[in-house]
Amino acid sequence: MANEAEALRGLQGEGGAEGSIIRVENVSKSYGDKPVLENVSFGISRGERLVIMGGSGCGKSTMLKMMTGLEPVNAGAINLFGRNIVGLDAESMDAIRTRFGVLFQSGALFGSMTVSENVAFPMQEHTALAPSVIDIMARMKLAMVGLSGYEDKMPSTLSGGQAKRVGLARAIALDPEIIFYDEPTSGLDPVTAAHIDGLILDLSRKLKVTSVVVTHDMVSAFKIADRIVMLHNRRVVESGTPDEIRNSANPAVQQFIRGEIEGPMTMGQEQEELEKELLASAAGAVKSGRPWWYPW
Ligand SMILES: Nc1ncnc2c1ncn2[C@@H]1O[C@H](COP(=O)(O)OP(=O)(O)OP(=O)(O)O)[C@@H](O)[C@H]1O
Ligand SMILES: [Mg+2]
Repeated sequence: MANEAEALRGLQGEGGAEGSIIRVENVSKSYGDKPVLENVSFGISRGERLVIMGGSGCGKSTMLKMMTGLEPVNAGAINLFGRNIVGLDAESMDAIRTRFGVLFQSGALFGSMTVSENVAFPMQEHTALAPSVIDIMARMKLAMVGLSGYEDKMPSTLSGGQAKRVGLARAIALDPEIIFYDEPTSGLDPVTAAHIDGLILDLSRKLKVTSVVVTHDMVSAFKIADRIVMLHNRRVVESGTPDEIRNSANPAVQQFIRGEIEGPMTMGQEQEELEKELLASAAGAVKSGRPWWYPW
């Protein structure tokens, strides 16, 4: 049944072609003296779609940044393609980075580049392809996410859903073996979110890509996942198939998937800090005579 041992399922393989493509082993992470994750372990098999879920601030994005070598790890190992990336030299890390794509929580498109330049960028950086070939490939990637005709648009003119799709086209630019998604459906209406879920499934099935999706969108998680890992209180508290998660006896899991206020998941300290911050910015707005978000 779903428990911590289950989370290690992907750890069984050799880390080679047929085994686990990603292995997170006893990873701990603090920012300053604030611990965020402690002794977290889970594995992902090739071709699998793993969803990492958990409350806001529980360390999902941090986990994803560590798995992509963007954030240092305090303890433990992260094996990608059978190689521990913790402490890996920059050159070797760059080589591994060409084998995966990332869709960032914020989209992170280059604002001064057109849509097709954004998608072409990884190919210009990491391949020796001629510009005309790169241009055709960028168009193909945009067609795959349903954005033919958007090549010359600037990111600032796109809707949230379109920007996510451009980010996705950029993430698949180098035909990755793994795609990491950080909150791919956040801020989108349910229909657009369903389109993004469809794209994630489509890419997974057509490209046989391994997918790691960080999300707190439960509809999306249950639609996408082969397996779900839930983080809570700095640890993996549950892991299993969507059905196993639905039937979990863990009260934190039940509270989370039902979106209930009462339960072991509290906002505590962070909620108080957030409230203080909001009050402070509201006070600043009154002093200046215009709302703090007013752009001119
Ligand atoms: N660069 C950083 N420096 C210091 N603290 C950080 C940094 N990045 C994240 N944190 C803190 O670490 C904790 C985990 O943050 P993280 O962004 O990983 O959470 P999350 O689960 O992705 O949340 P959300 O669902 O809101 O995106 C939070 O308390 C956050 O404030
Ligand atoms: Mg996050």
